[in-house]
Amino acid sequence: MRECGLFINGEWTAASSRDTFETTNPATGEVLARCAAGNEEDVVKAADAAAKSFGDWKRFPAPKRGEIILKAASILRQQKKSLGEMVTREMGKVIAEGEGDVQEAIDFLEYIAGEGRRMLGETTTSELPNKRCMTVRQPVGIVGCITPWNFPFAVPSWKLGAALIAGNTVVFKPSSLTPLCAAALVEIFQEAGIPPGVLNMVTGSAQTVGQAIVEEERIRTLSFTGGVAAGREIYSRASKKLKRVALELGSKNPLIVMEDADIDLALEGILFGAFGTAGQRCTATSRLLVHEKVYSEIMDRLVRRTKALKVGDPLDPSVDMGPVCGPEQELKVLNYIDIGVKEGARLVCGGKKLKEGDYGKGFFIEPTLFEARHGLRITKEEIFGPVLSVIKFSSYEEAIHVANDVDYGLSSSIYTRDINKAYRAIDDLEAGITYINAPTIGAEVHLPFGGVKNTGNGAREAGTAAIAEFTEIKTVFIDYSGKLQKAQIER
Ligand code: UN1
Repeated sequence: MRECGLFINGEWTAASSRDTFETTNPATGEVLARCAAGNEEDVVKAADAAAKSFGDWKRFPAPKRGEIILKAASILRQQKKSLGEMVTREMGKVIAEGEGDVQEAIDFLEYIAGEGRRMLGETTTSELPNKRCMTVRQPVGIVGCITPWNFPFAVPSWKLGAALIAGNTVVFKPSSLTPLCAAALVEIFQEAGIPPGVLNMVTGSAQTVGQAIVEEERIRTLSFTGGVAAGREIYSRASKKLKRVALELGSKNPLIVMEDADIDLALEGILFGAFGTAGQRCTATSRLLVHEKVYSEIMDRLVRRTKALKVGDPLDPSVDMGPVCGPEQELKVLNYIDIGVKEGARLVCGGKKLKEGDYGKGFFIEPTLFEARHGLRITKEEIFGPVLSVIKFSSYEEAIHVANDVDYGLSSSIYTRDINKAYRAIDDLEAGITYINAPTIGAEVHLPFGGVKNTGNGAREAGTAAIAEFTEIKTVFIDYSGKLQKAQIER
């Protein structure tokens, strides 16, 4: 069986405790690898290595840092097929999406490598003669990156790529559900020539490794994608140490279908948005808001299409939806389905765990539709699974109210042919991302990604925001007058 170690100071090692844990295939139960379970001591070692290598990495010219990142992207591209398969085996999304995950990593690394030749600052005037003012971007130091399992290549690449191009060194803790993918990504950086100590990975539990990263004094900046409860915990602990924290948390993304929408187009978007990655995206369409005039048409067709989705082995290209990622996730989703039924939502289709034959080995849940009304728990809380709640509305104003009346705000979408309504929705929807005539998923890497309200703490990832997340701004005043000039006073 494959073994995965920790990666500290350029070397693969066992955990200091020698403890290990297994990573398994959520479709088959097959054990894929045995991985090192790190602890506090290992995080200290990783931070030592990251601290030691920081000076040299910071001084290494940014375009050259970019060359290493570009090399990593090209290795990912060469191995896209096998890595896509690895994603599918380890977390259960269908193979096209497994490859898409790797593609998103490639796209981001290619994009961010170019920042090595930009990393733009400002140059401006001074209120005094013979003086120039400017800003430069500097790395923040050691960055702690804690990542989820649903995008095991894309999300770590957003964080590692941006942190590294900016001249930071990294301690990386991937989800314990996808350590194999994380190890493959780190190996690729190693092959691309990342110097020892610049990128360190400590696998292990959130309670030990995650906590140690949050507590370690030398790690001054944290970037976390995951659940709200964990995000809140990290934020409050890190705030005591005045650390900088970027949080990318949950959501409850609405897709609005107006009465004038292109129904065919909307249906395709709903199915992809709600059941892609078995609903396990923070951008997943989890609430469908439908205008009463098109409600029965949409429902009839949606139920038919949902029932026809093929659930099964995610490596089989004809399958539409794979399992959810493990027993905890399965329990949580089934529990929410139960809650939905109990609180009076109408279960229209799905709702059951699939158990017969090969399904029994994995964590398969039927694609599930609820007819619900706004205010129920299943319409307000993040489920992170293949469960879509449909809500009927009768006016644009009502749709916007319902869409916004949740604690989250990552992604949102409206289907309409009315250009005025589309533009109004861009202003009115309380979310970090709004799609017009497209589902809530599928963000592109050269644009900022993040949300409002409990989805985060104002941070944005990817796009030009990626550099802001991982740099400090230094303001520089250059006085070439050769004499003491006094700002504010000499006016
Ligand atoms: C996530 O679910 O954490 O927009 C990230 C999307 C993907 C990224 C999702 N590009 O759906």
